[in-house]
Amino acid sequence: MIHYVTETGSTNSDLAARLAGKERVPEGEWLVADRQSAGRGRQGRDWFDGSGNFMGSTVVHLAQGDPAGATLALLTGLAVYEACLPLVPDPSAMSLKWPNDVLIGRAKLAGILLEGQGNSVVVGIGVNLAAAPELTDRQTIALSKLGPTPDRDDFAERLANVFATELERWRSFGLEPLIRRWTKAAHPVGTALTFHDGDATPQQGSFAGLGEDGSLLLRLADGSQRAIHAGDVMLA
Ligand code: BTN
Repeated sequence: MIHYVTETGSTNSDLAARLAGKERVPEGEWLVADRQSAGRGRQGRDWFDGSGNFMGSTVVHLAQGDPAGATLALLTGLAVYEACLPLVPDPSAMSLKWPNDVLIGRAKLAGILLEGQGNSVVVGIGVNLAAAPELTDRQTIALSKLGPTPDRDDFAERLANVFATELERWRSFGLEPLIRRWTKAAHPVGTALTFHDGDATPQQGSFAGLGEDGSLLLRLADGSQRAIHAGDVMLA
């Protein structure tokens, strides 16, 4: 079930507030907004409020036996990638970047914000369907630059369906097939990456795949491999 609202502060904050009020928000329910006045991104950043873009959130309730909640980042990235595939003229230009960015070339097409609340996770997704922000520190792109502007409601339905399918697979088959499919959709092994870890000096390396737990494996200049569990990586 998808609920559409004209305007709100942040769809993630709205669902988090409902969970905090002990409301049982059902899995499969989505809140999608035309406008967000206080959209939030990862690492405390703001999220662009672009008219015609997809901005929506849903909830996953973690159950016993589920894979680790953090791996929902990989699942969500893959679901967004798959929902965008039919809208991209050259699918080979689209790739996933750990943990959950969707890129066209080097430009960011979509962003995902996961926020835990007890045993539940609020999954927030922003996809640049119609417009992309101009940022100084990273390239961005909207699907409207590649072809006709996608219909937001059609996109929301496809994404909700793909997400539900991926969630079911994640629960039934675990991480191994998800990691395999995620890696196929990611930039190639060997891609140069820079890892930013808070205030520490950024570390250069290359993409060596994902660990069994969904961590990012970064190959360092001395040939050693580092598993990264949290933080931000950029294409170098
Ligand atoms: C990122 O920084 O890449 C994550 C961006 C996530 C944006 C979405 S838009 C819908 C939902 N509500 C928010 O406030 N943020 C997420």
